[in-house]
Amino acid sequence: MRVHNNQAERVWLAPMSGSTDAAFRRQAVRFGCPAVVSEMVAGETLVAARPDMVRRTCRHEGRGRWIVQLAARRPEDMRKGAELLTEAGVDQIDINMGCPSRQVTGGSSGSALMREPALAKAIIDAAIEGGQGTPVSLKMRLGWDREQLNAPDLARYAEQAGIVMVTVHGRTRCQFYKGHADWQRIADTVSAISLPVIANGDICSTPSARAALTQSAAYGVMIGRAAMGRPWLPGQIAAELSGQAYEVPSLSEQLDSLIEQIEDSQSLYGKTLGLRIVRKHISAAIDKLDVPLSEAHRRRARSMACQIEEGATLISTLSDIFLEQRGVAA
Ligand SMILES: Cc1cc2nc3c(=O)[nH]c(=O)nc-3n(C[C@H](O)[C@H](O)[C@H](O)COP(=O)(O)O)c2cc1C
Repeated sequence: MRVHNNQAERVWLAPMSGSTDAAFRRQAVRFGCPAVVSEMVAGETLVAARPDMVRRTCRHEGRGRWIVQLAARRPEDMRKGAELLTEAGVDQIDINMGCPSRQVTGGSSGSALMREPALAKAIIDAAIEGGQGTPVSLKMRLGWDREQLNAPDLARYAEQAGIVMVTVHGRTRCQFYKGHADWQRIADTVSAISLPVIANGDICSTPSARAALTQSAAYGVMIGRAAMGRPWLPGQIAAELSGQAYEVPSLSEQLDSLIEQIEDSQSLYGKTLGLRIVRKHISAAIDKLDVPLSEAHRRRARSMACQIEEGATLISTLSDIFLEQRGVAA
């Protein structure tokens, strides 16, 4: 067992573009998630200071460090972006080398960088230079494809360059989200460096977190899609991994949390846009609501809640769905 040279948190909420805004991160930390990362911001957008980007990365309310993920295809944008985030007072900068989106990879940032190791290294150096002492972490995939599983090489470079933590999603870029994350492969990165490595991909419960930790020998886990509609999940996994019992929030606590998230979303983006942006969370929450609702009723509830354009009506409809399972008859 390796000795890690810093004390990173062991359970993380993954950065998810369009989902892990400050409103959602606030709910994750409210229920005990130890560490949350903002959705990615493009270095050049930050340099041009688009206000919606700055809003999305803004610090969440509540506990937890302020960690912003940065993507860039040019080292100078990464450097400048890291400088601006440091001036803004972020606690950690996370480099995005994991996102497979063509929008990102088309410009050779995100996971496309894993196919261009020299550029990837220049991006790592630029983030560290721009961060001027702010801790910088790196999130990547296993590699570009099965022939190029270069996460361990990049991790070695990252460690000597001064990166403090590495997250590995156990898929290649070419896999997108297909198949199952290969937690065993993450072990190659764990054994290549002495930094904390966080395992990511398909972790949806405490047993799957335990399996990922056993197979990868990683220091911690990062949870993405499974937390949609269940912001308490990372907190629950963190508690249970450390041997504590965790009481899942009651339906009324879940409703309070969703209402707070809706209100936060409206204050972040404005009333109309805020409701539209939070809809994917409402839909996921109804999907995962642990009540005996038929699939048809659930679908109807989802579509009803997602068409409402007015905050108070939405909240009363959600109260019916969560507390009475009313108003959803076919
Ligand atoms: C909608 C969506 C948006 C994502 N956005 C980002 C992102 O901005 N930065 C990033 O590094 N990864 C991003 N990812 C990848 C996740 O962080 C995570 O690595 C991946 O979903 C696998 O973890 P999971 O199986 O727990 O969801 C995104 C994933 C999804 C589904």
